[in-house]
Amino acid sequence: DTVGKPIECRAAVAWEAKKPLSLETVTVDPPKAGEVRLKVVATGVCHTDAYTLDGFDPEGLFPVILGHEGGGIVESVGDGVTSVCPGDHVIPLYVPQCYECKFCKSPKTNLCQKIRLTQGKGVMPDGTSRFTCKGKQLSHFMGTSTFSEYTVVAEISLCKVAPEAPLDKTCLLGCGISTGYGAALNTAKVEPGSVCAVWGLGAVGLAVIMGCKKAGASKIIGVDINPDKAIIASEFGATDFVNPKDTPDKPIQQVIIELTDGGCDFTFECIGSVATMRAALESCHKGWGVSTIIGVAASGQEISTKPFQLVTGRVWKGTAFGGWKSRESVPKLVDSYMKGELKVNEFVSHTLKIDEINKAFDLMHAGESIRSVVNF
Ligand code: APR
Ligand code: ZN
Repeated sequence: DTVGKPIECRAAVAWEAKKPLSLETVTVDPPKAGEVRLKVVATGVCHTDAYTLDGFDPEGLFPVILGHEGGGIVESVGDGVTSVCPGDHVIPLYVPQCYECKFCKSPKTNLCQKIRLTQGKGVMPDGTSRFTCKGKQLSHFMGTSTFSEYTVVAEISLCKVAPEAPLDKTCLLGCGISTGYGAALNTAKVEPGSVCAVWGLGAVGLAVIMGCKKAGASKIIGVDINPDKAIIASEFGATDFVNPKDTPDKPIQQVIIELTDGGCDFTFECIGSVATMRAALESCHKGWGVSTIIGVAASGQEISTKPFQLVTGRVWKGTAFGGWKSRESVPKLVDSYMKGELKVNEFVSHTLKIDEINKAFDLMHAGESIRSVVNF
């Protein structure tokens, strides 16, 4: 029985920036009040993990246990925890939902701020860490740290999901898939019959395509510089594919405007480049086109366009975690997947063991994976 005791387990530790993760035995302390300790079954590897490992994150987290796209089973709970109990299948949520803060009470946003400061600093809400290794304290990451066989999260950063759903697939609903799908449905609110274009056909962009299709879009144009993405995009619902490299002498916005009789009703940027953010905005139809930014640009980058683009009716928006209020929505997304209404398995291009986790980063950097799922 491990309840109330520290657990020793395997974790992929990021000791310092720009170095591969190293597999270590770490100690995971029991959950304090309002916290939950879970056994992580599987985790996706996402760009935000790589971004932090590359040292772009300014908050100085190292050494740290990364990972934020996980699925697991509750091992024990701290005092006062009522929403989950040991044995429950759960998905950690890097956007929490406390139901109490100004943000949670507003129907206009999903960005709960209750534990924002401590989460950013890599500690639990009480200001301390539950992880140690070789006598050193390790930081938490995004309130989730799913690259450890056991992790501790705040109760508000966790939701209970259907136990019959495979965690080695539904872990991806903890970030990429939910983000893209929700961007189309919640943030842009794509309408039936509309014309859409999606820049960047990784997991996020493919999930946007799936959302546009669900909303009844009549034309969905996938835009990617990798010609191999044409087939997979059509499998997710894209009706057209455009490779900007095929028309080097024409700005991509001009190509899209010509293809759509004046521009799109909805466009989405799923790359994280300020150049494609501008192109996506300027590919919107005059008078009503809405462009949604999903990709995370490098720190310090700024977007620009001519203000006339907005004066003439185009709208620029952005979204995090697809606008989903996390704890109430992710269990429903898992149910949709179980009913066959939402693709998830199709996003898993590679399945790896925890000791191969660095390979997942290599595959992502090489553009070879849609998503790698790492199993413990
Ligand atoms: N024009 C069109 N497509 C591009 C361009 C470009 N200039 N540059 C890159 N791409 C394509 C790549 O070929 C790739 O298919 O964008 C796609 C990005 O996919 P992934 O790297 O798999 O990214 P994904 O996991 O979907 O995340 C996308 O969302 O979470 C954020 O920070 C993350 O910014 C990233 C974005
Ligand atoms: Zn809140």
